[in-house]
Amino acid sequence: MQLFISLHALQVERQEQAERSVLINCQSRTNEKKFLKYLSNHGDIKKYFFYESYGLYAVVEFAKRENVASLLEGAVIPSVSHESTVPFKSRLLSLRNLSLVDLSNQQSGLQCQPQTTIPINEFIQRLSKEESIDQQITSLTEAYQLTEENSRLRFLVCSLLKDIAAAYFPECTIKPFGSSVNGFGKLGCDLDMFLDLDGISGRNPKSGLSLEYQMKRANSERAVTQSILSVIGECVDQFGPGCVGVQKILNARCPLVRFAHQPSGFQCDLTANNRVAMKSTELLYLYGQLDPRVRSLVFTVRCWARAHGVTSSIPGAWISNFSLTVMVLFFLQKRSIPIIPTLEHLRDLAGPADKSVIEGNDCTFVSDFSKIQLKSNTETLEQLLCEFFEFYATFPFSRMSLNIRKGKEQNKPEVAPLHIQNPFETSLNVSKNVNATQLDRFVALCQESSWLLQQRETNTPRGGANMTTAWGLATLLLPSQVAGIKSRKKRRREPASERIKGLLESLKNKNQPKTS
Ligand code: GTP
Ligand code: MG
Repeated sequence: MQLFISLHALQVERQEQAERSVLINCQSRTNEKKFLKYLSNHGDIKKYFFYESYGLYAVVEFAKRENVASLLEGAVIPSVSHESTVPFKSRLLSLRNLSLVDLSNQQSGLQCQPQTTIPINEFIQRLSKEESIDQQITSLTEAYQLTEENSRLRFLVCSLLKDIAAAYFPECTIKPFGSSVNGFGKLGCDLDMFLDLDGISGRNPKSGLSLEYQMKRANSERAVTQSILSVIGECVDQFGPGCVGVQKILNARCPLVRFAHQPSGFQCDLTANNRVAMKSTELLYLYGQLDPRVRSLVFTVRCWARAHGVTSSIPGAWISNFSLTVMVLFFLQKRSIPIIPTLEHLRDLAGPADKSVIEGNDCTFVSDFSKIQLKSNTETLEQLLCEFFEFYATFPFSRMSLNIRKGKEQNKPEVAPLHIQNPFETSLNVSKNVNATQLDRFVALCQESSWLLQQRETNTPRGGANMTTAWGLATLLLPSQVAGIKSRKKRRREPASERIKGLLESLKNKNQPKTS
């Protein structure tokens, strides 16, 4: 069996790298050699890369934390003439030494690592050149997934934020969760951060004489979380270099501080006391590691949903990426030979060290990947994608709820257009926000995509002169004919022959070569 690295081990490694790293704003014609030579005066550089986001930046990882301390020792406070500065020092720096800049008129030739992806319509043309739908799916996953550099940058931003929070809580850590680490993140996705105060020691009283800390008390854990986030949010707003547009959203079910980190270009959501979300991140990560088809299918469905406005970056009655991911997992559990096991099975495989109960919720599941025996399902990505659309085009949403604990649909426990049981807080519906219109659009789009994938015009690779004609997955990502549909009732009134005619027309139009 393949060797896996657990999310926990990955987090520890990346966090440790981030602690030894700095983020430096450079001038556009920085001389790479001189720049590195200057930095090496403070210690060995283990890794570095440049990227562009509101200017040129370098992420530099030193061999030791002392090297960073030495670098900071030599840094100066900016002298500004008409403004004043907050004297909060951090590992976000600017390169000011002009002797490191190439003054010749030439481009610096610096290699920049992309932190964003190409727009979907440009990508559609690239997809059409692939030779099979399986290859299209793999190529989409490869083009949109987080890069090694982007992942490092995410951990570095968490580490920079930790330095601010550590002014109040020196023992805290800030960990990324959600799509930044669950394996399903797309370049450009938001950065979900979790302020972890569990490491604050002194919790286990020893027998005999002991002292305890006098601590301020509040009515509830929620009130404590709100007050901590309020103060840290204020601090990020007033003192945090590069942090702009800070909003405190403290009355949400899960209180958070939202802001933009300009040097990285990340939209950040900082939460605290959100351990269940950390567990669901671990679970999604585990499922994504079990079989490469899981990540590819989730990626493809997420991109497809985004291209058709099924999901959105704005909160609302849309299906969330998290709900959509759970829907893909449920579908994979429901294959006649299941591709992934149920959460109950993963719980049964758990050892004593895996036991986890958070606020009364059983969040236990196995962490040792080698204990998980997979069934030998050999379906291709193309088959799975087609079956996914077919599955949800005909799923009895009005009566049934999706349950990944059992890998079975169950009668809905409450009225809601879409009911997906929260895997850990089992009395909750993760898609409670979704209204009937959005569910209907999703179903209509599944019907259309399933139909399209069964057409010869769509599923036959185009080669040679026709290479730019959209086919396969590319066709599914083009604007849809059913996207505007308001409700299923209206759709049903339309005769089937009309629908098919409409779809055929749309297919014809889509296959017209682009004039541009
Ligand atoms: P994108 O940010 O859209 O790329 O995906 P994401 O998976 O990061 O989703 P989001 O930022 O909305 O949420 C971050 C994480 O919080 C998710 O990965 C889940 O672990 C968790 N989460 C989000 N929504 C819910 C929900 O409704 N219920 C539960 N239990 N967890 C959620
Ligand atoms: Mg997210």
